[in-house]
Amino acid sequence: MKKSISGVTIELRQGDIANQGDCEAVVNAANAQLETGGGVAGAIHTAAGPELTSEARSMAPIKPGEAVITKAYNLPNQYVIHCLGPVYGQDKPEDRLLANCYSNALKLAEEKQISSIAFPAISTGIFGYPVEDAAKVAFTKFIESISSLKHLKNIIFVLYSEKDLNIHKRVLEQILQGKE
Ligand code: APR
Repeated sequence: MKKSISGVTIELRQGDIANQGDCEAVVNAANAQLETGGGVAGAIHTAAGPELTSEARSMAPIKPGEAVITKAYNLPNQYVIHCLGPVYGQDKPEDRLLANCYSNALKLAEEKQISSIAFPAISTGIFGYPVEDAAKVAFTKFIESISSLKHLKNIIFVLYSEKDLNIHKRVLEQILQGKE
């Protein structure tokens, strides 16, 4: 599914965030120490190789809502933007901290003049954020930020399961209908 808003495309696709060859940057659902982990962090660090882990570690620790950028090494991208999402029920307010992840990632991407970026559904795995609520936070932030983007033209959301893809499709449609 693709939606074009003020010249910026938001695309939702099912897939593996570590295998997105058509994006300049991919986003990691990181841990505070910027080490490898399970889920997205495991897939990204494994595919990128130990140099990624070593560059990322030198910037740790980060706090919930923060983001840092590294090179992408053996990934088919130029950059990895590492975001620490909130642990649901623990890091509060969760919605603001999750929105900060997206706005800080977009800010770093703009600074590097990146034109395409792929996001996973930050915090919705091990960190326990309900998928539908997290999708609302993400898309609301994207739509709010679109008018200030100069370089980013393609924002891609990569969902691991078909179920999560369908939830995201529904939430994006609802938000866009609410805007009309
Ligand atoms: N590609 C795309 N999405 C993925 C992939 C993948 N390879 N693997 C998992 N996902 C999905 C999950 O299904 C979930 O919806 O990404 C979402 C985020 O899941 P997590 O990776 O668990 O991220 P998060 O909830 O932010 O938890 C971060 O997990 O790996 C550890 O060290 C990391 O402690 C940190 C925590």
